[in-house]
Amino acid sequence: MVADRFDWMRTPRILFGPGSLAQLGETAGTFGQSAAVVTGARALRQSGRCDQALHSLAVADIRCRVYEVGNEPTPNLVDELAADVRLHGINLVIAIGGGSVLDAGKAVAAMVPQTHPAEAFLEGVGTRAHDGRRIPLVAVPTTAGTGSEATANAVLSRVGPDGYKASLRHPNLVPDVALVDPELALSCPAHVTAACGMDALTQLIEAYVSVRASPMTDALAQSGLVAVRDHLMRACRTDAADVNARAGMAYASLASGLALANAGLGVVHGLAGVLGGLYPVPHGVACGTLVGVATGMNIAKLRETGAAALQKYAEVGRFLGARETDVDACCNALVAILSGWVDELSLPRLGEYGLPASGLAHVARRASNKNNPVRLSLAEMESLLSERL
Ligand SMILES: [Fe+2]
Repeated sequence: MVADRFDWMRTPRILFGPGSLAQLGETAGTFGQSAAVVTGARALRQSGRCDQALHSLAVADIRCRVYEVGNEPTPNLVDELAADVRLHGINLVIAIGGGSVLDAGKAVAAMVPQTHPAEAFLEGVGTRAHDGRRIPLVAVPTTAGTGSEATANAVLSRVGPDGYKASLRHPNLVPDVALVDPELALSCPAHVTAACGMDALTQLIEAYVSVRASPMTDALAQSGLVAVRDHLMRACRTDAADVNARAGMAYASLASGLALANAGLGVVHGLAGVLGGLYPVPHGVACGTLVGVATGMNIAKLRETGAAALQKYAEVGRFLGARETDVDACCNALVAILSGWVDELSLPRLGEYGLPASGLAHVARRASNKNNPVRLSLAEMESLLSERL
C-alpha cells in the first residue's frame, strides 16, 4: 500500500499558533511593501480581526489594497482582480479567509504574471499548462477545512448546468507562508465549523488510503486524524470559545492540506467537485455528507477483492477511536463513527441543494476516483450518492 517512490511538494513556511496574526506585517514585509489583501471580509470585519491584520501591515509600512471576495471565485473574477493588481504595481498577495478566499488569492497571485486568462490554465477546461510564475503569497486561513494554505492548487468554479469546479495547479502555487492563527476561527458559526471540519477529516482519510500515500503523508494524516478525534465535536459546540479545540482543528486542516497535496484524494472529492459545479452545495457539506457512505462502499468493495487497503481503513478507525483489534471489526467501527458524526453534526442531504434522483448518473459519470484505493463503478457511485439524497 505504501508507495516506494514519491514526490514531495514544497511546503510553506508555517507560522502556527494563537495570536500569530500579530506577526503578519513583519512576515509579509520580507516579500514586498505593496499588498493586495484578498478577504471574505464580512465575518472577519465584524470580529475586528481584519482591522487587526491591517494594523499589523500598516505598522510594517506595507501599503494595502483590499479586495473582497463574497463567493467561490470564478475565473472571470480572478482575471479582474489580477488586472487591478497589475495596474497598481502590487507585488504581494495576502489572502485572509476561508478556503474560497485562499483559493482566490492563490489564483490572483498566479495570474498576475500571465497574459492568458485563468480559464485557459484550468485542469480539464483549458489547454495551457501554468508555468509556475507568480507573485509572493501569504495565506491566512480563518476556517479549519480545506488546508488550502498548504496546497498547490486553487479551485475556481462556474455554477450552473454547464458548471464546473476545476483547479489551477502548479507546485509553485504552494503559498510562501501559511500563517495559521486558530483564534481567527473563534467567530466561525457551528454549522460552518462542522462542514469545514468534515472536509478536513475527509481529506485526511482519502490521503491516508490513497494509492499515492507515502510514509510522510501517512504521518501527517495520522496526526491530523487524532486531532479531529479530539477536537471536532468540541469546536462545533455553538458556545465554544475554545481556542484549544480551534487549534486542534486548524492543525488537522493544515495537515490535511499537506497530505492531500502529496497523496491526492479519493472518490468523495471526485464527487464533491462535480456536485459543487452543478449545484450550490458547499464543498464541506458535499464531503461531510458523503464520507460515511463512501467509506462504507470502499470497504465493502475492498472486502470483495481482498485488498491490503482494508488494513489502512482499520488504522483510520483506530486513530478515530475504535478499540477493536481485528481489521474487519475496526473497519465496521470506522463506518459507524463516521455515520454517527454525520448524524450528530446534522450534515444536510444533497437533495436540499436541488440534486434530483435523475441527476445522479450525470454526477457519477463526470466524477474521478483515480486515487481511490478501489475503483468504483458508475452504479456504485450513483448508489452512494442516492444514500445521501
Ligand atoms: Fe476538500
